[in-house]
Amino acid sequence: MSLHLTTAATLPEGTAADLVLILPAGTAALPAEAPLLPEAAQRYADEQLAADRKLFAVNLYSHRLYVVVAADKKTPALVAEELRKSGHGLHAQLKADKVKTLYVLDLTAQRQGARALAEGLYLTAYQFEGYKTDEKSKKPADLEQLVLVGLDEAEAAQLENLLQGVTLARDLVNMPQNKLTATDFAEQMAAAGQRAGFTTEVFDMAHIESLRMGGLLAVNQGSPEPPTFTIMEWKPEGARNERPYVLVGKGVVFDTGGLSLKPTPGSMDLMKCDMAGAAAMTGVMFALAKNQVPLHVVALVPATDNRPGGNAFAPGDVITMHSGLTVEVLNTDAEGRLILADALSFARKYQPQLVIDAATLTGSAARAIGKEGIVAMGTADESVMQALAEAGRRTHERIVEFPLWDEYAEHIKSDIADINNLGKAEAGAISAGKFLERFAEGYPWIHLDIAGPAFLAAPDSYRGKNGTGTAVRLLYDFLTTQLK
Ligand code: BES
Ligand code: MN
Ligand code: ZN
Repeated sequence: MSLHLTTAATLPEGTAADLVLILPAGTAALPAEAPLLPEAAQRYADEQLAADRKLFAVNLYSHRLYVVVAADKKTPALVAEELRKSGHGLHAQLKADKVKTLYVLDLTAQRQGARALAEGLYLTAYQFEGYKTDEKSKKPADLEQLVLVGLDEAEAAQLENLLQGVTLARDLVNMPQNKLTATDFAEQMAAAGQRAGFTTEVFDMAHIESLRMGGLLAVNQGSPEPPTFTIMEWKPEGARNERPYVLVGKGVVFDTGGLSLKPTPGSMDLMKCDMAGAAAMTGVMFALAKNQVPLHVVALVPATDNRPGGNAFAPGDVITMHSGLTVEVLNTDAEGRLILADALSFARKYQPQLVIDAATLTGSAARAIGKEGIVAMGTADESVMQALAEAGRRTHERIVEFPLWDEYAEHIKSDIADINNLGKAEAGAISAGKFLERFAEGYPWIHLDIAGPAFLAAPDSYRGKNGTGTAVRLLYDFLTTQLK
């Protein structure tokens, strides 16, 4: 059960509703628009503000007033991020106070605070349902509803749909591979389509073979489970774009490394997260369709696990990809680029306006910038990359662009095939991007390596721990901004 967002024109008169006030940075005393408080409470609140407290509660006995003061930051985006974090802090207090319904009254200048605070509260309230059989552990969440005072009803509904998209992505990432095989994943995407209104088509093994998707088939060889290739499509009447946006997500439901087995303990343990790119694209499609966004968008998800079973592909194998290029497989743990490559060359048939892929592709990207950001590369115009970077700042799912300089092509040269899949010890995130570039031909393209932020072993504010749903808010913001 997740949090429900609603709106009200004004605060309810004369009742004892729990309320959070969002005040502008530097507020030294409760402003006149704040609800009238008993004298002692007013004095207490003013003292807290004068002492520069950013988050505090005023106990009014019949109900509670929480006060959040916005931070003094250089940009509106940074102020919003601090408010998301305040939402995280506030959530703990609401939980302790067993608040079920909370009114949100935003008194900041641009009235941009409520949205960010609601995001922080909503994302913090996320809980993976999991598989516990003990009924007591299934206690319902305390906080059930946020009432955003003065907000447009449609805006609140849109925000809730977007956050449900994030929730969906997180749930999918948190499901282990024995509960989410490639076939299960395809079914989950189809079910999401049913709920949200986008269409899905799932290619099975025979269809994937007939398309000669040599990358996806090679990675799947060592698995007892068949691969799937899922197409999600949202094509509303009156779509503003003539050519579709195509999203591509890496859907490795578990990555053992294959015969180039990952050296456990450690590196294999979290690899149920290796479909986080595909989960993010599912979340984006969910939000776009639910919100009836007038854009034509297609999402492609090649899915399989990567295992060392009897028929597994082996280091040294040369495979022929869907595009016709040959690849010398020097390491079976560099599997993500092989399945993405087939989806990228398949994408060409849509004559896309832009293709964006997201993938937990390289440890190299994670080591370079950590969980704090997304590594981006691509061939799209600088203005497009800039628009994405701005969306990144607004959503705080920030991107850092890495280069695709010609010289890096050296890293993936092969003696006996067109390219190799391994690269060199240095610049691993880039050689992976360089590899994908060979297949992303005929359209502008952006690659997002989300290996750092996709899955967190320790909680990080409102992002929580485990699956974060990273890139859902980023891509939704980016795509909807294209409308303006
Ligand atoms: N799924 C991994 C990358 C990964 C690492 C994701 C850490 C999330 C967290 C990917 O398939 C992989 O194994 N990449 C190798 C590539 C190498 C063999 C060229 C890597 O980064 O070590
Ligand atoms: Mn791998
Ligand atoms: Zn992988």
